[in-house]
Amino acid sequence: MPNTPTESASATHVTRDGHPFLTFGGCNYLGLAHNPEVIAAAQAALTTFGLSTSASRQTTGNAQPHSDLETTLANFTGFDDALLVPDGYTANLAALQGLAAIGINHAVIDARAHASLKDAANLAQMTIHTYDHLNPTHAHQILATLDTPAVVLTDAVFTTDGDLAPLQELLSNISHHILLIDDCHGFTVLGNQGRGTANHFNLTHPNLMMTTTLVKGLGSAGGVVLGSPNLVAASRDHSTAYICTTPASPALAAAASTALSLLQTQPSIHAQLLDNINNTRAMLRSHGIQTHNHPTPIFAFTLGEESDMLRIEHALLDEHIILPLMQYPNGPAPTYFRLSINASHTKAHIDLLDQALTHALKAQPA
Ligand SMILES: Cc1ncc(COP(=O)(O)O)c(C=O)c1O
Repeated sequence: MPNTPTESASATHVTRDGHPFLTFGGCNYLGLAHNPEVIAAAQAALTTFGLSTSASRQTTGNAQPHSDLETTLANFTGFDDALLVPDGYTANLAALQGLAAIGINHAVIDARAHASLKDAANLAQMTIHTYDHLNPTHAHQILATLDTPAVVLTDAVFTTDGDLAPLQELLSNISHHILLIDDCHGFTVLGNQGRGTANHFNLTHPNLMMTTTLVKGLGSAGGVVLGSPNLVAASRDHSTAYICTTPASPALAAAASTALSLLQTQPSIHAQLLDNINNTRAMLRSHGIQTHNHPTPIFAFTLGEESDMLRIEHALLDEHIILPLMQYPNGPAPTYFRLSINASHTKAHIDLLDQALTHALKAQPA
């Protein structure tokens, strides 16, 4: 089922094999990938710019929506500078290639960080040191053994289970090192109007950098490196991940800018997400499922052995509900459910999942 192609989609439903399913998968946290104003912005920019600029931004591929989006992203998140790149994976690579070019050759990384951070550190030819998951003391112990500057790497909100990294502790005493947070799952979700996890913790620091994708909360495409002007300039001037790649379509950049402005002008969208997170947490707990307490829309859990979980997944599919069972890297278990809720879900959708889970958990194995 997970790899069955989707034939059509809204923020809450997909059609597969001709059948509609209520879905709790993906990362379209604000439902903006299906927002009519966001889609209209993309359509207008398609008419003006065509589908693709077909060239790197450093050559002839920079369009006004790309530059405008960089300014908007920096202003919104509170970082001094922003560099737009094709996607979130590339953003991590561009950031680390830039840091390597200015002499940062050690990466100190959370054991369960997203694979793109580790890949980026490898590709930037950094020496990698791994600290225990969510353990800032261990990270600082490793930093203390290094005699040259390092970059500390972590997801701000962990992709697989929605847990929050201890950013305050990681940033305290960062000294001459850099803290780079991948905020793909906190940007648009946490902080004032979704300004991100650094904003949530009220953190600013010249040595703090952030990367994020624009595919999730903004529902568009692209990635961004944010930070102090000298750190972002290192990526702009030295990273082949930026210099030698073509940006996301100008239409998608225009869509992302519109999505960002909706976040600010229609606070009810973000408020609905927070409500849905609380209702989902309460529903899961009523089934005895342990969850985190954070205002993040990702809930990961196991329900017995893998065979039990497969049975439950299929029982839910029989009720036309997708609750993704996955083996995505660096999760809380080899196989686990990852439920994500978004702002377009209604209380009725959560109630449907509640009822289907009740049936599935009661049913005995055949
Ligand atoms: C934490 C994290 N970093 C990076 C990425 C890569 O982002 P993108 O899909 O835009 O390349 C993802 C998502 O897939 C992610 O979850």
